[in-house]
Amino acid sequence: MNRRNFVRNSLVTAGAAMVADRRLSALRFASQEKIPGAIPDSVIDAARFPDGFLWGMASASYQVEGAWDADGKGESIWDRFSHTVGKVKGGAMADVSCDDYHRYKEDIAILKRLNQKSYRFSISWARIQPTGTGAVNQKGIDHYSRVTDAVLEAGLRPFCTIYHWDLPQRLEDRGGWPNRDLAGYYAEFAGILAKYLGDRITVWAPFNMPWTFTYYGYGIGVFPPCRSDFYLFLRAAHTVNLAQGEALRAIKAASSKATVGSAYGMAPAYPKTDSEADRAATERYHAMNNLYFLNPAMHGEYPKAFVGEPPYDAMGYKAGDDKIMKAPLDWVGFHYYTRRIVSAASGGAGSSGGGHFGTETEGEGGSAARDPLTQIHVEMPTEGPLTEAGLEIWPRGMYDLVTQISREYNHPVIEISENGCCYLDAPDETGRVPDARRIAFHRQILAELARAISDGAKVRAYHAWTLVDNFEWADGYTQRYGLTYVDFRSQKRTVKDSGLWYGRVAASGRLGV
Ligand code: FCB
Repeated sequence: MNRRNFVRNSLVTAGAAMVADRRLSALRFASQEKIPGAIPDSVIDAARFPDGFLWGMASASYQVEGAWDADGKGESIWDRFSHTVGKVKGGAMADVSCDDYHRYKEDIAILKRLNQKSYRFSISWARIQPTGTGAVNQKGIDHYSRVTDAVLEAGLRPFCTIYHWDLPQRLEDRGGWPNRDLAGYYAEFAGILAKYLGDRITVWAPFNMPWTFTYYGYGIGVFPPCRSDFYLFLRAAHTVNLAQGEALRAIKAASSKATVGSAYGMAPAYPKTDSEADRAATERYHAMNNLYFLNPAMHGEYPKAFVGEPPYDAMGYKAGDDKIMKAPLDWVGFHYYTRRIVSAASGGAGSSGGGHFGTETEGEGGSAARDPLTQIHVEMPTEGPLTEAGLEIWPRGMYDLVTQISREYNHPVIEISENGCCYLDAPDETGRVPDARRIAFHRQILAELARAISDGAKVRAYHAWTLVDNFEWADGYTQRYGLTYVDFRSQKRTVKDSGLWYGRVAASGRLGV
């Protein structure tokens, strides 16, 4: 490069870096300013995580893999949904998505480069059993075997989510999750994975966000299979609870090294007023949204989610189901994105249409109950700043949720299976992605997590959602949660500033980096 170009390029780069740095402190200040009760920067900078803490990132098969019909894979309900006109924003499909099926080595190399210690990924059921039951598709097993080996070679712990929403379509055709037979089919699938991969994978979570996929899919119909019937949701959720218990036993029978936990979606809930009715409604929200799958596993019984007795008949509950559901977890994993405000309400159509923000629900006006049996009204507050997915940033919720679950379940080992935010920052003229708001978000939330740990919570891992920008369910490609930017036309990956920052955090165990 000649001298004139060298000087000009250096100036451009330095200028851009200065602009980006100024923008970073401005944004850090700006977003922190608006967060009520934000932890001051000096305290965040001093926060330290325990030695051996597992820094990680998470992804999901349908969101990243593409290759939707490769190597004998069967059709999943998400293939059917995204191939149906009018279902996904912008008519987007995940047939290619980030092409991680072919580029997993490149993606795992990013994790290694960023000093990560845990990679949470999921396995597509329809790649292993194309119709959901029957013979194993060896090519599917071989793929995930190669992925597992690559994760281990990169020095990371593989954390496998067995089911992240992509049900084989043929099982939906047989009634989907409301069909109790799926518990057995699912346990067989889980056992197959443990048999073939359990020599290398020891950390398993049966279901990602079971409340969300059952409620969204069968209760309000915004996810496949698009059914809107609260009672169908109750049946689906009960099958999933049976499946969870059966799967834990199948996994442990196939692999003596296996540990089984969870990847539940949870939201700390706060009563709208101090009235007894609102406080009781908040308890019901917590039971329905946070504990509905945890409590059956731990204690073999449903938590107190309903105003009266659980509607056992409507759920399809049979004598002895308590024993099937009970399968105490070795560790408890959950995601945290945002909080809820809850009040008591009556009415409820029985197929509540409530608002939804991506994979978080509620938020519309009105005061009707979400459904006739829980009699809760739930709001997504906007007191704090909002991400570009419209979710309120409420870092203190991390502390509240982690300490609450610790108290209520006798101080289990906890993993944060997901936490992250949507911002649409793209590469600037220098090729950098200066996503300062994402850094500010993670700094605040991680400082609250460090506070919960220093108050005694046994949290051993944190997984940022997500490794690479990807297909965000019904929102298609309109939302970007990645710490790595993906140009979906060229498949070029660019680690964002937040990814580089998170890599330094992982290397040092400190937030002030
Ligand atoms: C979670 C999902 C994950 C992703 C993030 C944004 O609810 O588990 O797949 O969509 O939300």
